[in-house]
Amino acid sequence: MTGQVHAESRAPGGYEVAVSQIEPVQIAHDYPITPKEHGVAFLMEHRHLWVRSSKQHALLRLRAEVEAACQEYLNERGFVRYDTPILTACAAEGTSNLFATEYFDLGPAYLAQTGQLYVESGMMSFGKVYCFGPTFRAEKSKTRRHLTEFWMIEPEMAYYDHEDNLRLQEEYISYIVQRCLERRAEDLEVLERDLAPLQRIRPPFPRISYDEAVELIAEHHEEVEECTPLSWGDDLGAPHETLLSNMFDRPVFVCGYPTKAKAFYMEPEPGRPEVALNADLLAPEGYGEIIGGSQRIHDPDLLEQRIVEWGLQPEDYRWYVDLRKYGSVPHSGFGMGIERVVTWIAGTHHIRAAIPFPRTLDKIYP
Ligand code: 4AD
Ligand code: MG
Repeated sequence: MTGQVHAESRAPGGYEVAVSQIEPVQIAHDYPITPKEHGVAFLMEHRHLWVRSSKQHALLRLRAEVEAACQEYLNERGFVRYDTPILTACAAEGTSNLFATEYFDLGPAYLAQTGQLYVESGMMSFGKVYCFGPTFRAEKSKTRRHLTEFWMIEPEMAYYDHEDNLRLQEEYISYIVQRCLERRAEDLEVLERDLAPLQRIRPPFPRISYDEAVELIAEHHEEVEECTPLSWGDDLGAPHETLLSNMFDRPVFVCGYPTKAKAFYMEPEPGRPEVALNADLLAPEGYGEIIGGSQRIHDPDLLEQRIVEWGLQPEDYRWYVDLRKYGSVPHSGFGMGIERVVTWIAGTHHIRAAIPFPRTLDKIYP
């Protein structure tokens, strides 16, 4: 297109072109996506073209901003990016949702559920590190917030206790949200996002205990579809998260989950070992968990005991226990799911639009 460009405040992008000449590069016939209403299944089948549509375009640009923001925040504060493997020898977040593959004639290898165990080795070398990459869960959950392949950023900090960990998380999330408001206002407008709930996202965030969460759920479970009371000891399900996250106007930390409901590596609360020094951060407006984090066990004997109690093979975790045997300090970290954060900031309903090519329980789209 050749023409004269001029500023035009009424134009969506702020500029207009007075076109004098058009030369087609290619004429496309029967473009499958038309202005009429298409079903989501059809659009997902055409995901490779759908990404050209305005809302999908805005969502993915927002994703790129979140990815840039979450790395720059850490880079500017002395964190070192430390890349962790995707093909791994053992489980870290439970054995029920592992994707297994045959690794030549050496037996099974698993797609990483998390980079955490490996990133802890970097933490003891550099002090503050993070890993950032795709992670995999063979989740049997068919909800609007589960993918089988998702991206996670996982900071890990030496000498941070549980409290330090929470403070970093609330600063981190607030920075990411405020930066999207500043730099991606156009995209948020295309997405018709109500900005008021995002403008409120500043520290400190409210905190409740798991025990309080159980009580709140008992009182209010009838307000959310398919939400049943929670018996003490069980992890929260999606409807529980929806209920709790609707009760606060900022993200809320749910602290001190039952040790048995969570991963083997979490430091127990002093004087109350049935509870872990951990927290999940639930985004408001019903979006639910966006971060899971904890203080880690730094004592080698307790860690070895937990590995056995959790039914894991001690020889698979010898290197991880070494991190405690040969110079160990209290430390903490967390993992933030990129697509969960993008879904929430964009105010979109389903997580599948927050990644170019979603992988879900029922389908691998193009
Ligand atoms: O709570 P999770 O399972 O924690 C871990 O993996 C820890 N190792 C993190 C750490 O402490 N370094 O997962 C962390 C986050 C969740 O809060 C959520 O945002 C995201 O990863 N997540 C998923 N996102 C989309 N689809 C799924 N199936 C997800 N599972 C977890
Ligand atoms: Mg979690």
